Amino acid sequence: MLDSKVILKDFPILSQKVHGSKRLVYLDSGATSQKPTQVIEAISNYYLHDTSNVHRGVHTLSDRSTQVFEDSRKTVAEFFGAESDELILTRNTTEAINGIAYGWGDNNLKKGDVVVSTEMEHHANLVVWQELCKRTGAVLKVVGLKDKSTLDLAEFEDILKQNPVKLVAFVHVSNTLGTVNPVAEIVSFVKKHTPSARIVLDAAQSAPHMPVDFHGLKVDFLAFGGHKMLAPMGAAGLLVKKSLLQDGEMKPWLFGGGMINQVHKLDASYAEDLSDLFTAGTPDVASAKGLAVACEYLSDLGMKEVMEHDFSLVKYAYEKLSKVDGLMVVGLKPEKDGQGQPNRLGSVSFIHNEVHAHDLAQILDSEGVAVRSGHHCTMPLHIACGWQATTRASFNVYNTKEDIDALVRAFDRVLKIFGK
Ligand SMILES: Cc1ncc(COP(=O)(O)O)c(C=O)c1O
Repeated sequence: MLDSKVILKDFPILSQKVHGSKRLVYLDSGATSQKPTQVIEAISNYYLHDTSNVHRGVHTLSDRSTQVFEDSRKTVAEFFGAESDELILTRNTTEAINGIAYGWGDNNLKKGDVVVSTEMEHHANLVVWQELCKRTGAVLKVVGLKDKSTLDLAEFEDILKQNPVKLVAFVHVSNTLGTVNPVAEIVSFVKKHTPSARIVLDAAQSAPHMPVDFHGLKVDFLAFGGHKMLAPMGAAGLLVKKSLLQDGEMKPWLFGGGMINQVHKLDASYAEDLSDLFTAGTPDVASAKGLAVACEYLSDLGMKEVMEHDFSLVKYAYEKLSKVDGLMVVGLKPEKDGQGQPNRLGSVSFIHNEVHAHDLAQILDSEGVAVRSGHHCTMPLHIACGWQATTRASFNVYNTKEDIDALVRAFDRVLKIFGK
């Protein structure tokens, strides 16, 4: 069991009051998480003591900075059970997914090939493929939903059986529904029907809440956003299976300094070291360090414990919010399967039968409760479900059941204002 009281001490931002004397209840970690002092201090220490560019100098600070960068890459890769060479650091999950499109898609897709994504995706894992298909002439097929809560796996399998699929991209944990998708099952039918297809997993909302083992999941690409898992903004990454990098199937998509071997007037050859090859220009060393410290922080808590904590909050929020007058909680009833795997994690979204999501979020904010409202960058999902907008409470390790009680209490104010 996580001790949130101890954890909260690492997040002084959460001890502030807002709107006068209201305790800040931060339930918007799905958008970005708060950062513990350990991460903030690591960034500050890097700038105070080690600032210098990497790889290009022979002086002490450059050596130190290079060491910080390489050690950080190793720690982050290990957090995902990957090798340091397999990690490409990016600014956010969106950039990581775009990297797949430019570095792999543009070099491997041709007219008539099929890319599969789903109606549950964040725009980052859909619009990127729409654009890739426009550039290459490939065709995008989008798997629909079942019962407004899970992927239609029968439709998914049918699409794979009937089409020359080259790329399959889907989300691990939905940022709107919280649904945890059955990665092993999906991967197994991709391998069965279209064995040469590459698989992209969007782990933006799973990596903060559950153990994520890159090789164990048997996907080719995995995108994550460090800023949602206690790391600084600007810290994220893409994991790519090493064989794809070694045989050049995945190519660099950013060119310039740092990633070259020899440069002549009209041509250049590129670095053999894979981490150099995919690090064009000056890297954000401080963010890499912050991300590494965040990974260590989560590993020290234990990702299984983090998952249990998150699931208990999701379950509690689902139960409490389902009892609020006029409120409909969307997505699956939280449950675990025979192996103890939760069917949903990270967040609980809801719709009031009379109060618009934005009004709801504003009133809750006036009570100190920070939630997000709108389509959460999942417009196709909202359209498919017939929802104009939802309000989302999302969690991280510092949240407690008292936070959810505060959210539920804040609905008294909604009642007062709207007379509901
Ligand atoms: C499931 C999912 N994928 C992708 C993204 C995009 O992440 P980023 O903001 O790091 O680009 C998000 C952000 O909320 C997300 O929830």
